[in-house]
Amino acid sequence: MNKKCFIFDLDGVIVDTAKYHFLAWKNLANSIGIDFSHAQNEQLKGVSRKRSLEKILGWGNQTLSDIDFHSLMEKKNSEYLNYITTMNRSELLPDVERTINFLIEMNQFVTLGSASKNARPILVKTNLLEAFDAIVDGNDVTEAKPNPEVFLKAALLTNTQPNHCIVFEDSVAGIQAANAAGMISIGIGNENILSEAMYNFTDFTELSNSFLEELIKH
Ligand code: BG6
Ligand code: MG
Repeated sequence: MNKKCFIFDLDGVIVDTAKYHFLAWKNLANSIGIDFSHAQNEQLKGVSRKRSLEKILGWGNQTLSDIDFHSLMEKKNSEYLNYITTMNRSELLPDVERTINFLIEMNQFVTLGSASKNARPILVKTNLLEAFDAIVDGNDVTEAKPNPEVFLKAALLTNTQPNHCIVFEDSVAGIQAANAAGMISIGIGNENILSEAMYNFTDFTELSNSFLEELIKH
C-alpha cells in the first residue's frame, strides 16, 4: 500500500485565519504611517512574523531599533490573538475535515507545515490536534517560506521522500517552498495568484476523494 505524506498549511487552508493576520498587519502598518494593500498582503501570506514586519518596514522605507521591532511584533501578535480567542470549529474551512478524515481512512500520513507560532493552540481549539501524525510550525524552523525547510522537516518526521509528499497551500511563498522541496504543490484559493502550483482548487469542496486516491496511487 502506498503511503504518502500530505502536508497541510494552517492559516487560510485549514482555518479561516488569513483574514485576521491581514487585519492585524494592516492596523499595525497604518499605525506607523505605512499603507497596506491586499496585493502586499498576498506577499505576506505564509511568511513568518519577523520576515513580514521586515517587508512592511521595507515598503515604508523605515528602520527600527531591535527593541521597537520586537515590540511591534508583539503588538501585531496580541491583536491577532484577540481575534482568535473565541475561535472554534466553525472557523474550519469547507470540506477540509472531510479531506483529512478521508486521508486518515486511506492510511496516509497527515501532517502540518505552518509558519505560525500559534499553530498548536489553534489545532486544540478546533479539535484537530489528534488528527496529525506530525506537526511542524513556526517554532520548529529557522527559515521562512519560500524556503522549503518546514515541509522537508514534515517529510523527515514521517520518513517520506519529498517526491511522495503533497502540500496544500494558500500562499505564493508556500507554493514556492513546496516546489523547491520537490513536492507536489496544490494551491487552495485563487489560481491566478497561485499560478506556480501544480494543481489548483478554489477550496476543498472542489477536491474529490477520487482525486486524492489518484495522488495516493501515483
Ligand atoms: C502564516 C500566515 O501561516 O503564519 C502569516 O500565513 C503569518 O500571515 C505567519 O505571519 C506567522 O504566524 P504567527 O501566528 O506566528 O504570527
Ligand atoms: Mg496559509
